[in-house]
Amino acid sequence: MPKAKIAPSMLSSDFSNLASEASRMLQCGADWLHMDIMDGHFVPNLTIGAPVIQSLRKHTTAYLDCHLMVTNPLDYVEPFGKAGASGFTFHVEASKDNWQELIQQIRSKGMKPGVALKPGTPVEDVYPLLDGENPVEMVLVMTVEPGFGGQKFMPEMMDKVRALRKKYPSLDIEVDGGLGPSTIDAAASAGANCIVAGSSVFGASEPAQVISLMRKSVDE
Ligand code: DX5
Ligand code: ZN
Repeated sequence: MPKAKIAPSMLSSDFSNLASEASRMLQCGADWLHMDIMDGHFVPNLTIGAPVIQSLRKHTTAYLDCHLMVTNPLDYVEPFGKAGASGFTFHVEASKDNWQELIQQIRSKGMKPGVALKPGTPVEDVYPLLDGENPVEMVLVMTVEPGFGGQKFMPEMMDKVRALRKKYPSLDIEVDGGLGPSTIDAAASAGANCIVAGSSVFGASEPAQVISLMRKSVDE
């Protein structure tokens, strides 16, 4: 499977010091920065939008892994492209009839398209987005209900990760929610290689140790 990408979720950072929190995570060994975009409609929480991505982009060249928990992802493609987002992951539940256009637009704005699925959504729902001519490049399997950091990992979601890994050996498969030292082995052995972690990294006294432990679990 592809190599580990460890992506601290900036949702758990001090938003008033976003640039320095980002550089602290990169110094601690983070590969990507996971940015949680919530519109207060698709999920019952509101976070940040393209203006904040644009501000952060002035301070870092890092891969900004944007997870859009929004009802109308197509409306966000152009602003996020202009703002300097690297990955644009939309929810399959929010893209029932326009995912082909979405993927094409995301790519045309220079971003990497990904699709996310909520815990209640069957894995089969994302297969059409992987099997067509213009496939997504990452699947994000939610391991908590989207909306908030600090929730408990749902191990039963690993069945989805295993099914995806078996069908798509070289696909980037991301897990998001409740990942940390006590849950990483379950995710890694199921085949996840992109690991989002918010509270376990930001809550640690030595975030670098948590990041390196998770990387080992995926790569070894
Ligand atoms: C939840 C977000 C996650 C969240 C993860 O909706 O998508 O990225 O910040 O936080 P932890 O690692 O604390 O569960
Ligand atoms: Zn997320």
